Amino acid sequence: MTSQSVENKVALITGANKGIGLEIARQLGVQGITVLIGARDEKRGQEAADKLHAEHNIDAHAVLLDVTDNSTIDAAAKHIESEFGKLDILVNNAGVFVESVPPSQLDMEVLRRTYDTNFFGVFAVIKAMLPLLRKSDAGRIVNMSSGLGSLTQNSDPNFEYAQFKLLGYNSSKTALNAMTVQFAHELIDTPIKVNSADPGYVATDINANQGTRTVEQGAIAPVRLATLPNDGLTGGFFDENGVVPW
Ligand SMILES: NC(=O)c1ccc[n+]([C@@H]2O[C@H](COP(=O)([O-])OP(=O)(O)OC[C@H]3O[C@@H](n4cnc5c(N)ncnc54)[C@H](OP(=O)(O)O)[C@@H]3O)[C@@H](O)[C@H]2O)c1
Repeated sequence: MTSQSVENKVALITGANKGIGLEIARQLGVQGITVLIGARDEKRGQEAADKLHAEHNIDAHAVLLDVTDNSTIDAAAKHIESEFGKLDILVNNAGVFVESVPPSQLDMEVLRRTYDTNFFGVFAVIKAMLPLLRKSDAGRIVNMSSGLGSLTQNSDPNFEYAQFKLLGYNSSKTALNAMTVQFAHELIDTPIKVNSADPGYVATDINANQGTRTVEQGAIAPVRLATLPNDGLTGGFFDENGVVPW
């Protein structure tokens, strides 16, 4: 299988000012793809774009985008339309992890806050960007899920991370996987492929750098899914080694 030509390709990565998102932008950018650094803080987004440009001569641009704020999502879509006319790759990477208690003690507000970003935020961004992805001849949507979103793994007492029973976070990623399946089905007759990625347990701010993998390793699966060839799979859940069970 050969990878897509990168000529004039444009990728939007949400939450790309740091962590795995920034590394995904770097790995796509060094392939010659124009990368749009989605960030909810304009200054930190610009700093990340400047860094990629300075270190690797990547064509990187900051785009203000808070996935919980529709006005920034709509403005980002309009900006991408006027500047680039289309979008080839959307990586829904922005995510939060804001709980530390067992399910019975979880605060409803914390549960809602988790879903606002990890589920509703992804939906809002896909909806706004879909018209631009339809203008690409090889649109790709990658939803950043987690092994913690796998019901098969979560219900296995021998799963390496079986002790992480975090109702809000885990179920928001399970719901995100459901979104992957549904959009992939709807778009099956288009060139657009929709997949979920599991980056593994990566040392970033989201886990106070407790993860055991590097951002370079965490970015492998999402970057591969973002650059799938035309005969690549859609509607699946993958880590860098292959299929992850739902
Ligand atoms: N690290 C892991 O072990 C691991 C494992 C499985 C899945 N994941 C997933 O991988 C993705 C990236 O996480 P990470 O590990 O790189 O964590 P991270 O370093 O904390 O990065 C999270 C990114 O999401 C952004 N973000 C959060 N809320 C946002 C919002 N409302 N609008 C726009 N951006 C927002 C953050 O922006 P700010 O800088 O402004 O906060 C930051 O850029 C997440 O979806 C996470 O669930 C991570």
